[in-house]
Amino acid sequence: MAVKFPRIFVPIKSGDCMKKINYFGSMFVIGLLCINTRAVSQNASEKQMKAPAYQSVINNQNIFDFPPLPYSYDALEPYIDKLTVEIHYSKHHKAYYDNFTKAIAGTEMESMDIIDIFKNISKYPVAIRNNGGGYFNHTFYWESMKPQGGETPTGELSASIIKTFGSFEEFKKQFEESGKMRFGSGWAWLCLDDKGKLFICSTPNQDNPLMDIAEKKGIPLLTVDVWEHAYYLKYQNKRADYLTAFWNVVDWNNVSKRYENAYKSLNLK
Ligand SMILES: [Fe+2]
Repeated sequence: MAVKFPRIFVPIKSGDCMKKINYFGSMFVIGLLCINTRAVSQNASEKQMKAPAYQSVINNQNIFDFPPLPYSYDALEPYIDKLTVEIHYSKHHKAYYDNFTKAIAGTEMESMDIIDIFKNISKYPVAIRNNGGGYFNHTFYWESMKPQGGETPTGELSASIIKTFGSFEEFKKQFEESGKMRFGSGWAWLCLDDKGKLFICSTPNQDNPLMDIAEKKGIPLLTVDVWEHAYYLKYQNKRADYLTAFWNVVDWNNVSKRYENAYKSLNLK
């Protein structure tokens, strides 16, 4: 809310009268500022309450910021090389972000939660689908990894993976297969469906399982980018080798947190 200064602040003359006018004027402005601060704070808290699904899948508080890479460009070596990460983040991801913010400028989407945009993506121009997806998916991908990652899942997520896929090794095999089988460019995902069941899926281009056009919708927990720009410099045409190496940098702590938050957000008994 914009605060305009009241006209009584214009210094037309000095003296007691002016002091009183300035005093009441100051009180008026302080009052307006208090109302404004309260309104901003209320809006922020309303937004947080409206976005449990968003909070469960991504760590950043401001959805329309370009988030910093959570580690240095060379942190995922030797599994994902420095130059690939640098170009991928600073050129590809940044371009999706820039194009997305340009595409939503002056529209209702500027004040919407990105999850709500995805839920209605079929109603919006294709530029929103491609660039909003590219922006979100890459942020989610960077936060799926960490240097010296690769430990195995623990706790409830581990139990759920074993229950769903039979074993952790079988889950990895099916996830890699999903990435390998994606024709052209896209993503492989581990997701939670609305019944609280894990599933693996793949989306083309910059689509994701939060979009209303997705073949199977769910809350994403883990993703791997299988566009060639994610691996070509180091692995060339060997996408399978990149997918095998990916397990060495998965941040299972973060994936487990996503699982717990996503599961809670379903409010299952
Ligand atoms: Fe990418």
